[in-house]
Amino acid sequence: MAIMRKIYFDNAATTQVRKEVVDKVAEILSTEFGNPSSTHSVGRSSKSILENCRKEIAAHFKVTAAEIIFTSGGTEADNLIINSCVRDLKVERIITSKIEHHAVLHTIQDLSSELNIQVDYVQLDQNGMIIYDHLENLLKISPSKTLVSLMHVNNEIGNILNINKVATICKDYNALFHSDTVQSVGHYNLDFSKIPIDFAAVAAHKFHGPKGVGFAFVRKNSGLKASIKGGEQERGLRAGTEAVYAVAGLNEALKLSYQHLTEETNYVKSIKNYFKDTLLREIPDAKLNGCCGDDDLSTYTLLNVLLPIPPEKASLLLFQLDLKGIACSKGSACQSGSVSGSHVLSEILSKEDMLKPSLRFSFSTFNTTEEVDFVIETLKELMNS
Ligand SMILES: Cc1ncc(COP(=O)(O)O)c(C=O)c1O
Repeated sequence: MAIMRKIYFDNAATTQVRKEVVDKVAEILSTEFGNPSSTHSVGRSSKSILENCRKEIAAHFKVTAAEIIFTSGGTEADNLIINSCVRDLKVERIITSKIEHHAVLHTIQDLSSELNIQVDYVQLDQNGMIIYDHLENLLKISPSKTLVSLMHVNNEIGNILNINKVATICKDYNALFHSDTVQSVGHYNLDFSKIPIDFAAVAAHKFHGPKGVGFAFVRKNSGLKASIKGGEQERGLRAGTEAVYAVAGLNEALKLSYQHLTEETNYVKSIKNYFKDTLLREIPDAKLNGCCGDDDLSTYTLLNVLLPIPPEKASLLLFQLDLKGIACSKGSACQSGSVSGSHVLSEILSKEDMLKPSLRFSFSTFNTTEEVDFVIETLKELMNS
């Protein structure tokens, strides 16, 4: 029996782990089992690996090692930051947007109902871009202690926030600024010595690293406290024995991503543009959601595509693609199992367009133009069947 080829266009959900990362994780797992908190030499050896990784990771962002707090991933980092801003820094008001990841939105919604925190949502334009003047107006009208939480790259439609502009506005109005940078770290250079940001969340599995590890960037002297309580690990901000092998994998993945950033960005961009051009030529009624057709306003790693398919055919589409070996995503994989449509697309699409299928194709350095050809041909076939 012929083995079916697998085409993976779901890199915004997670990425294939690089071979070098697998090797690094295996090496550390097999040679360094010490608990970094132990004071004997076995523990000290693990501790030294952990702290070297922290230093190397911090250097990519031009921050100090003490500002990197390892977590189990993006969700935990978002939770740690937002919860502690309210509970420990006494933030009374949060400004965010309706198209944030649920790690941010649900955390904020819970705090709002539990502790009566005021939540304001920044207006979006018709393509889901933040209206910066509205953010400024919101900051102007209230003196209460405020946290602004806006993601850098949207995981569903790829829109890029002008993170420096938002950070500067927040600074001007004395508001704290957190950005979920889960979809941008490893794909864009971020210099936090120049961007006046307070907090950021990162996940290794979005840049060819292992799952279950990430970090929170927490600006020095922020006053944040731990949500997960126990030991004094991570400078008292995150209790629990550190997963040194996973952190080493994160470090290796980040190093490789930034080492190859220019060539891989150009390559992935060319795959995305080839996909976009082929799609619009072969299926002219397809539409691009959000700003993902615009290289300046949207990440080079994804396309969110609305297909001109009637609802009765739409429900089977993802399943049929899967049967052909094609992995992509309806909205976002983080919400698979959810019966409601995408909370992001529902902010920017008409009711009528929400009934049509929107698929997210997200790309990596491991994809090829031949894969794109196969996917577009398959889409055409399924639409005409
Ligand atoms: C923008 C964004 N934030 C947060 C997360 C959650 O990260 P993790 O899966 O590491 O918890 C994701 C993952 O899908 C994401 O895309």
